[in-house]
Amino acid sequence: MGQSRVSIPLIPTRIGHQIRVQTTQNAVSSSSHAWLDPSLRLNVPLVDVDKVRCVIRNIVRDWASEGKVERDQCYLPILEELEKWFPKRNKESPPCCLVPGAGLGRLALEISRLGFVCQGNEFSYYMMICSSFILNNTQSVGEWTIYPWIHSNCNSHSDEDQLRPVSIPDILPASAGITEGFSMCGGDFVEVYNDPGQEGRSLFFSYILVS
Ligand SMILES: C[S@@+](CC[C@H](N)C(=O)[O-])C[C@H]1O[C@@H](n2cnc3c(N)ncnc32)[C@H](O)[C@@H]1O
Repeated sequence: MGQSRVSIPLIPTRIGHQIRVQTTQNAVSSSSHAWLDPSLRLNVPLVDVDKVRCVIRNIVRDWASEGKVERDQCYLPILEELEKWFPKRNKESPPCCLVPGAGLGRLALEISRLGFVCQGNEFSYYMMICSSFILNNTQSVGEWTIYPWIHSNCNSHSDEDQLRPVSIPDILPASAGITEGFSMCGGDFVEVYNDPGQEGRSLFFSYILVS
């Protein structure tokens, strides 16, 4: 496993669309304010905008130090349970674990660090694009700054609350000690694993967590 980059294979989704993330590097020059050009504006439906905002807020829990207390409450009981069920893990032949509805992938990463060959499964492109970005493109802890609450006045006592920056991630996935074989799989859980060849994994998930 490389030190600076984790290669997390994205198993092709069966939802039927290709993910194509276009970089704006060539099209947009911030110095010339070319990004104000109306022809570059996309007509993004409000429902999609809302989903993106929601994912940005969720990043705080999964990938920021500010989310640690909540992460511990949600994920530690699952990790402890895994420890209990698989106390003696063989490094040569580690047990496998599947996390359906893996969201932004932090639980799957923690399970992998524990010594399991872990696969996170998720069918939301919003989640998958974001987890792929953090897992595969991070070079250092706190490399990215987000403003998760900037779009909402809810629960803000002051402007500072709303404008508060959050650095992510709190951990460098590439050197977090993950077990070889860690992957994220895009697609509907029911379809992707509806194959007899997929037996033999433990199944742990935190699906009902309110995010
Ligand atoms: C309530 S969220 C919880 C996410 C994550 N486990 C967490 O704790 O933050 C449920 C997640 O399951 C995903 N999901 C729901 N049904 C799914 C399915 N059939 N196959 C794969 N993912 C699914 C959703 O997209 C969503 O990310």
